[in-house]
Amino acid sequence: MRVRVVFLALCAGLMSLSCSLDNRVEVKSPNGELKYELHVNDQGQLSYELSVGQAKLINESKLGLEATQSRLSIEKVKIVDKKTVEVDEVWNAVWGQNKKIKNNYNQLVLDLITSKGLQLQLQVKVYDDGLGFRYKIPEQTGIDSIFITDEKTEFNLAQNGTAWSIPANFDSYEMLYQTTKIDEVKGANTPVTFKTNDGVYLSIHEANLTDYAGMTLQNTGGTNFEANLVPWPDGVKVKAKGSLLTPWRTITISKNAAGLVESNLIQNLNDPCVLEDTDWIEPMKYIGIWWGMHLGVETWTMGPKHGATTENMKAYIDFAADHNVHAVLAEGWNTGWENWGKARAFDQQTPYADFDFDEVVRYANAKGVELIGHHETGGDYIYYEECMDKAFSMLRDNGIRVLKTGYAGPMPNGHYHHGQKMVQHYRKVVEKAARYNLMIDAHEPIKATGISRTYPNMMTREGARGMEWNGWSEGNPPEHYVILPFTRCLGGPIDYTPGTFDILYKNRKEYTKWNSNDKGNSRVNTTLAKQLALWVCLYSPLQMASDLISNYEGQPAFEFFENLPADFEETKVLAAEIGEYYAVARRKDENWYIGSITDEHARDLKIDLSFLKGDKTYVAKIYADGEKASLENPTDINITELEVTSNTELTVKMVAGGGQAIEIVLKH
Ligand code: NOJ
Ligand code: CA
Repeated sequence: MRVRVVFLALCAGLMSLSCSLDNRVEVKSPNGELKYELHVNDQGQLSYELSVGQAKLINESKLGLEATQSRLSIEKVKIVDKKTVEVDEVWNAVWGQNKKIKNNYNQLVLDLITSKGLQLQLQVKVYDDGLGFRYKIPEQTGIDSIFITDEKTEFNLAQNGTAWSIPANFDSYEMLYQTTKIDEVKGANTPVTFKTNDGVYLSIHEANLTDYAGMTLQNTGGTNFEANLVPWPDGVKVKAKGSLLTPWRTITISKNAAGLVESNLIQNLNDPCVLEDTDWIEPMKYIGIWWGMHLGVETWTMGPKHGATTENMKAYIDFAADHNVHAVLAEGWNTGWENWGKARAFDQQTPYADFDFDEVVRYANAKGVELIGHHETGGDYIYYEECMDKAFSMLRDNGIRVLKTGYAGPMPNGHYHHGQKMVQHYRKVVEKAARYNLMIDAHEPIKATGISRTYPNMMTREGARGMEWNGWSEGNPPEHYVILPFTRCLGGPIDYTPGTFDILYKNRKEYTKWNSNDKGNSRVNTTLAKQLALWVCLYSPLQMASDLISNYEGQPAFEFFENLPADFEETKVLAAEIGEYYAVARRKDENWYIGSITDEHARDLKIDLSFLKGDKTYVAKIYADGEKASLENPTDINITELEVTSNTELTVKMVAGGGQAIEIVLKH
């Protein structure tokens, strides 16, 4: 039985409290620009509206949940109480694009009660750069199991405009973004980004997705979208015991594209760090035995082309030690890859016979290089949960503190990657990993919703159409890179794995097609300078240089990665337009690192260095698209040095599909 659960408010003049509260409550951002209004219409439906200044951004949008149990039937809701509080604080991130994060909002907590006595709460936090709201069913007598069948939250945009979206999908985020009119978006995964005809930029997403189903959006007509939660195999969306707290439904708002990137809303809407000791958590740069498999020149399985051999690992460790790279990943080090696709396929504790695990650990230690463990599960989370403790112990006991996980394959028993069961699993992995002092890089993950604030060992994740697709598909188009920072990356760090140097695959010999997406036209659609810039533009506290080390040997351009810090203190967006261009500067100590990228159009960007210290001189090392660079001649790169000060204005010249990377070092 499906019982509609909606929030109603009765204000018949009998209840002095609810009447004095009226059926319209508003909360404004600290600067007064954003106004979130909750109200109850004549039918008793609770809904909200949102305005920016004098203009409506979101028209009346319904709020509500549906559940199977009649006890949860929410009728004749009354507003019982309203509390508001202003919070203004600063917190320090363990790592991140910025170390000091301002957390300044006005909070409204609205207590509601149904005629059957069910207590409910709506919590709202309004910031200058957006807002979040969530539902709570607190623990109360008479409520045990809760089965949510639908969430009725709407986002009814007041205007049409441009949307950058990937289709709603319960299993994957690995798709190309579509640029369309807002009313042409049929459904979307979040984060999804819109620019209204009036020029307001907004991103709809969720924060603190911890024990709930992932939210997709469904177009219900025009520019109105409704939450569509990823179901369990039995169709129920969310199962809870005793109480329920939903993730925050978030809207990040800005007058320009840069502001979306600079917002800390998603992290602010997560709980503070719960780990007492975070000293072991450290951003790193890494390389790995990885790209060879995607190119089809090496294999994960053991055989004549096996990538993860002891010998190959030692070569990667040597390269890392010589080139200021902290860590090395090995994929295909453990048995089971020949069973990929079957249940209980991967053995996360047994190395292949040609991968001498102990020797690799010894060698890496001797060279001062970290190892990154890899656990592909093929999606078999059930088997992985059985093995996790032992597999994690093996890593910890060997001094390994980074783990890449993977879920490439369908989940058992009809679960979706983004359903509640898997949300719980991904969270379990992060919490357990913290107990084993392991940092996580998750592939085929649940989307990033800011939980790294609470568990800063959750470093980075994929959850996008990453570099791997260039190995076995037509490749990600130039504009993909100038959409990601304003969409996927708004949730949190991305393990995109940039850094292809052999862009035209000139060194790709004896290649075997292994992926059904491969139509023989695979390629990388960027210049070399853009690959360098991506290391800055696509932020990840575990940043990979993903090409084969043989393609880096003797390449002067690799010095940019060698000198690049893994961690930064401050980030400034210098130029940004979604789907067109992006330039960002990141500071470590006194030095700055700038990445600039363009879409399929050549562009000159003026970059003013006024953020440098006024009385100092710096040396800028510039890695620019060469005179003859193009997508057909992508490796032409021009490396120059220039003295700069805060008065310098640089002209960043980029060819179609190009980019530029700059290292700015204080002159002593
Ligand atoms: C997909 C991941 O995204 C990729 O990085 C990995 O190499 C393969 N799965 C195999 O685990
Ligand atoms: Ca993937």
